Amino acid sequence: MLEIADKEFSQIREIMYRKTGVALKDTKKPLVVARLRKRLEELKLERFAQYVPLLERDTGAEMEIFINALTTNETYFFRHTKQFNFLYETILPEMIVRKRESREVRIWSAASSTGEEPFSIALVCKSFFKNYPGWKVSLIASDINTEVIGEAKEGVYSERSIKEVPDSMKNKYFVPWSDSANRMWPQFQLSREIISSVRFVQHNLLLPFKEKDFDVIFIRNVMIYFDGQSKQKVADNVVASLVPGGYLFISLSESLNDVKTGLRQVYSAVYQK
Ligand SMILES: C[S@@+](CC[C@H](N)C(=O)[O-])C[C@H]1O[C@@H](n2cnc3c(N)ncnc32)[C@H](O)[C@@H]1O
Repeated sequence: MLEIADKEFSQIREIMYRKTGVALKDTKKPLVVARLRKRLEELKLERFAQYVPLLERDTGAEMEIFINALTTNETYFFRHTKQFNFLYETILPEMIVRKRESREVRIWSAASSTGEEPFSIALVCKSFFKNYPGWKVSLIASDINTEVIGEAKEGVYSERSIKEVPDSMKNKYFVPWSDSANRMWPQFQLSREIISSVRFVQHNLLLPFKEKDFDVIFIRNVMIYFDGQSKQKVADNVVASLVPGGYLFISLSESLNDVKTGLRQVYSAVYQK
């Protein structure tokens, strides 16, 4: 049975922290073994003591596989629905006034995982801007994990993932989907129109984002994985990409109390610069 000794676990923890800011707790030992087992088998390695040096030597391909395996990507459409209502009812109407000259609204989903969050934003914007022809929404989604970005671009989702999508949107933008493997669970394909309205890029939140001037940024359910130091760094980077007056969404299970941002809270887990 594959096991991990304290020494290799702390080495893996240190590499993950250095590369992503994610601080793996002691209790995550079994999870690390479970998530990396397949990779060790593929490499025909029997012990983590053989894998760590390989990882330390490698800065490219193996590191990407390692990070993809160890990030947690749980998400679903319209997670914390009331925040999407706030976007539709309060923020977007405000943008119609504030951005009347450029007629462009810039939104970033900063830890987009398999796409449910940016596509929920896209669906809200689609519904809102149908009454405002000539307006453009630039919607960018990023994640450190290249595998989830690939999945997002496919736009295929389980019934569970889309359970919070309003029926009118479900009927309009999703169709039943099945692949040749004949899956047991129903799957749904999101329309190409919505998929192509989001630009996906790989980005590590520990680094400044080259895209700036966002009116709205969603950074939800990712800061929980960081310790104080990486959380502050990520918060600084993200706030630097927000326009004055712009809005930052975090999740309802997170807070910004332990970091300095200069933002003020305006709604449940929504802040303004
Ligand atoms: C739990 S998901 C959150 C998805 C979505 N925002 C939501 O709230 O439903 C967390 C995502 O953060 C990403 N992540 C972790 N560390 C990161 C980093 N340093 N830079 C960018 N993304 C990161 C993971 O790959 C994962 O897809």
